[in-house]
Amino acid sequence: MNNVGTLLKAVDIHKSYAQGTGELEILRGISLEIKEGEAFAILGSSGAGKSTLLQIMGTLDRPNRGELYCEGRDLLAMNDEELSKFRNSEMGFVFQFHHLLGEFTALENVMIPCRVAGENVKEAKEKAQHLLNFMGLFDRKEHYPNQLSGGELQRVAIARALVRHPKILFADEPTGNLDSTTSAKIQDLFFKLKEEMKLALVVVTHDLAFATRFPKVYRMKDGLWQA
Ligand SMILES: Nc1ncnc2c1ncn2[C@@H]1O[C@H](COP(=O)(O)OP(=O)(O)O)[C@@H](O)[C@H]1O
Ligand SMILES: [Mg+2]
Repeated sequence: MNNVGTLLKAVDIHKSYAQGTGELEILRGISLEIKEGEAFAILGSSGAGKSTLLQIMGTLDRPNRGELYCEGRDLLAMNDEELSKFRNSEMGFVFQFHHLLGEFTALENVMIPCRVAGENVKEAKEKAQHLLNFMGLFDRKEHYPNQLSGGELQRVAIARALVRHPKILFADEPTGNLDSTTSAKIQDLFFKLKEEMKLALVVVTHDLAFATRFPKVYRMKDGLWQA
């Protein structure tokens, strides 16, 4: 792990699930590096293993075999508590569905990762407000999820993913649930945020038009990179 600028490095990742008497192989030896501030898309048909890979890269799931390093740290040697702390400060996640908590306002939802990390309310609130303003949600901060549109919900979810200034943002089909106009706006927002926050951005998508906006696209098939 001496490569300058490498943030995350996954080596020969295997993942399988027991199925009857045999094994269902989902990832069959995938390697990948994420460099500081880079952006790429991962394309592949349904069932290719994209979400599984993203979850493993993001330490939300563990591989059966393989190695995973972040800036010299061996992530697979960490226990779950160490990992969740690490994840909460270094990585952000956005999914197809927003997963906001319905009983909290947009602002409160964005503050949650800060509160989990032990930041005080005032500091968390300032950061969350700043980010929501940047997202164009200045007048939506006190709204509850059921009072927001699909695009607004996704913007709040993105703010929540970024509020602790992670180095990497992982997004799994982040526009999969949006109409094309809203999708285009969310795509623009990702690229704007990437520049503004100097993030590495990894996006899994079905949308070829979205994928081709990235400087680099990896294609995945049956748990392997496609040549
Ligand atoms: N917990 C699990 N148990 C068994 N099979 C799983 C599990 N999670 C995912 N799979 C299977 O792994 C394959 C890849 O899933 P996934 O990574 O979600 O693919 P993609 O995101 O590319 O559509 C699918 O065939 C799926 O059914
Ligand atoms: Mg998926």
